[in-house]
Amino acid sequence: MPKSTGAGGPVAVVHELVFSLAVPGLATEASPEDAADDWLEWLSDELMAMGALCVGVEDALANDPSLEHPHFGEPGAPTSMQAWPLNQLRVLLPVDQSAEDWWQAAQRDCPVLAGCPVDIRALADEDWVGQSQRAFTPIEVRDQIWIGPSWHERPEAYRQPPKMGLSIDPGMAFGTGGHATTRLCLETIVDISRQRPLGQVLDYGCGSGILGLACAKLGASGVTGVDIDPVAVRVAQANAALNLDARELGLTHWQTAGDPLQGQFDLVVANILAQPLKLLAGLLLSHRRPGGWLVLSGVLSRQIVELQEAYAAVDPTAQLLVFGEDEGWACLGLMGVMGRQSPF
Ligand SMILES: C[S@@+](CC[C@H](N)C(=O)[O-])C[C@H]1O[C@@H](n2cnc3c(N)ncnc32)[C@H](O)[C@@H]1O
Repeated sequence: MPKSTGAGGPVAVVHELVFSLAVPGLATEASPEDAADDWLEWLSDELMAMGALCVGVEDALANDPSLEHPHFGEPGAPTSMQAWPLNQLRVLLPVDQSAEDWWQAAQRDCPVLAGCPVDIRALADEDWVGQSQRAFTPIEVRDQIWIGPSWHERPEAYRQPPKMGLSIDPGMAFGTGGHATTRLCLETIVDISRQRPLGQVLDYGCGSGILGLACAKLGASGVTGVDIDPVAVRVAQANAALNLDARELGLTHWQTAGDPLQGQFDLVVANILAQPLKLLAGLLLSHRRPGGWLVLSGVLSRQIVELQEAYAAVDPTAQLLVFGEDEGWACLGLMGVMGRQSPF
């Protein structure tokens, strides 16, 4: 039985599940570190696909506080995944999801979790928001956009066009700009906007809305943000209201992944993870206007080829190019044909 803590305590805004796992079959692998990373990444992708907000991995045996404990899938995430002989996994779930039901389903879908002891607790508002706020420091993108937390004053230089600022309150959603995957997308979007109008934009996996909002500020004629997590959709709507004037706001639309999505877009941007991006290949390609841009992020550099193969399998003309790499992450995509020249 899962052990729950926090019942009757402060109001929960997120469930936290913590469990320890050894990576199976390492002794038989020629490259045990890569195999362990691949396995943990597969497991993490599975858990994210089942609705986890983020998955973090630490060394379950580490007792030296000077050791780093990299995380992935949340602000401040590391360059790439790392595995240890015994890994402690920390999964965050939306509060409207029953953590016990989710854990049972996870054990069914991933038999490696069966019988694994788990601690489940409710994280109170102040814990979760406080964590993300501490991790959120302002960033500047291509010397044109400043992005900072809503409680941080925007620098003078970013109050007048052509420079601009975005105040983001991430709440429980991913997307402060601090993560390399988001930064790579933002840089690519700014580069594209310097070549041609952004047109109609689809921000798939919008999280805090950061990418769609940057597009709106850079002159997109419309922005549709989609997220599988209804909490993220609400956060994105709130950030849109915080940053956009009435005209810009009227050009944006935020919805959950279950709502019908129609039309084709001049720019489709999706910063998710490799596994969901592969599953979403057909959908994302179908919403890209012929000759439009596709920008994909959340892909580790060593996953570039598998992403390229997955997209080419759906559409042989969809030959993904590498737009940029940073901290072990890659940003891939398809260039639009209307640009005068490649920004890369
Ligand atoms: C890494 S965050 C990116 C957030 C933001 N776009 C950014 O670039 O910082 C990925 C987002 O994708 C959402 N997501 C994951 N799987 C999804 C799916 N299958 N369909 C739609 N959204 C998904 C998550 O809820 C999360 O908000």
